[in-house]
Amino acid sequence: MSEHRIRAGVTALGAYAPPNIVTNQDLERMMDTSDEWITSRTGIKRRHVAAEDEFTSDLAYRAVEDLVARHGEDALDGVDMVIVATNTPDALFPATAAMVQDRFQLKAAAFDLLAACPGWLYSLGIAKSLVESGQNRRVLAIGSEALSKIVDWNDRATAVLFGDGAGAVVVEAVPEEFGIRSMVLGADGSGAGQLHKRSVGRCLPNGEPLAETLYMNGREVFKFAVRVMNTSTIEAVEKAGLHTDDISLFVPHQANLRIIEAARERLGLDRDRVVVTVDEYGNNSTASIPLALRHAVDQGRVHAGDHLLLVSFGAGLTWAASVLTWGPA
Ligand code: ACO
Repeated sequence: MSEHRIRAGVTALGAYAPPNIVTNQDLERMMDTSDEWITSRTGIKRRHVAAEDEFTSDLAYRAVEDLVARHGEDALDGVDMVIVATNTPDALFPATAAMVQDRFQLKAAAFDLLAACPGWLYSLGIAKSLVESGQNRRVLAIGSEALSKIVDWNDRATAVLFGDGAGAVVVEAVPEEFGIRSMVLGADGSGAGQLHKRSVGRCLPNGEPLAETLYMNGREVFKFAVRVMNTSTIEAVEKAGLHTDDISLFVPHQANLRIIEAARERLGLDRDRVVVTVDEYGNNSTASIPLALRHAVDQGRVHAGDHLLLVSFGAGLTWAASVLTWGPA
């Protein structure tokens, strides 16, 4: 009996960033910082910030609305699983994903996924497994963040870095020449102290108190990021049976332009093969890659058959990388 192998891929994409923009000049008026410092250290010029009464489920809803506007009402037909990757869920429970399921009246299971910034790539990995195993037909994988609600706006070391937004894709079976060709997921919990925010616990396992607002050891995270972006991308390309020369577009997590540049140089890619949106959005955590992807699609930089290399890193510490062959849409 011949074995029929299913290949999962992305068939629809949408994203959303709230219209309220906070520029570096706005921040200069709020805290002891400068456009020059922020731009030279991070590449960030602006970030989009959710309204006071706008939360992660609202941003996720808008991203799915955008997906439907681009791909038509039937883009959500048969979606039987909703995953929302987020670090800023509206509530501990119910899951933000269940709120999205209800708002679109989907006949679907729903759960949230927390793996820090790589959470959306983790959700893509889970979606791939669910579709390829035959467990689910169509998975809606969303990354959505209202990070502005958890940063300390008096802490110049973190407040300047983050922004709000959301991105959503539909994952389903695609012809074998397209789809998610490789997925590399990793974690090293010994680095928990580098990046954290308290929920119901008080301390990390080593006794270190958990921060009330987002805490980050920027220098350590920077070193970790440069290292894992290199190792995980190479692993993802090899696992896909490709070479870096085959990569049409590199879509990295948008945290810091210097980190993106270091990764680009190590991969030996020209600048025209890299998507950069960190100037416009800052770091949107789980929403950053789908937002960047939509930006690239809108600029006509993504074509059916292109091999895209995606990579992310974040609290945990965690990382993820994947090669996705765009299409058939
Ligand atoms: N404006 C002006 N000065 C500042 C600011 C600011 N916004 N923030 C810090 N400084 C000062 C510091 O106080 C320090 O001053 P000092 O030398 O007098 O003590 C000086 O600038 C240098 O500070 P560093 O923290 O050493 O600056 P660095 O060059 O490391 O840049 C940064 C900091 C941008 C945070 C960098 O470390 C970085 O990008 N790290 C990685 C962060 C990241 O990618 N995080 C995301 C991963 S996880 C996630 O997405 C949730």
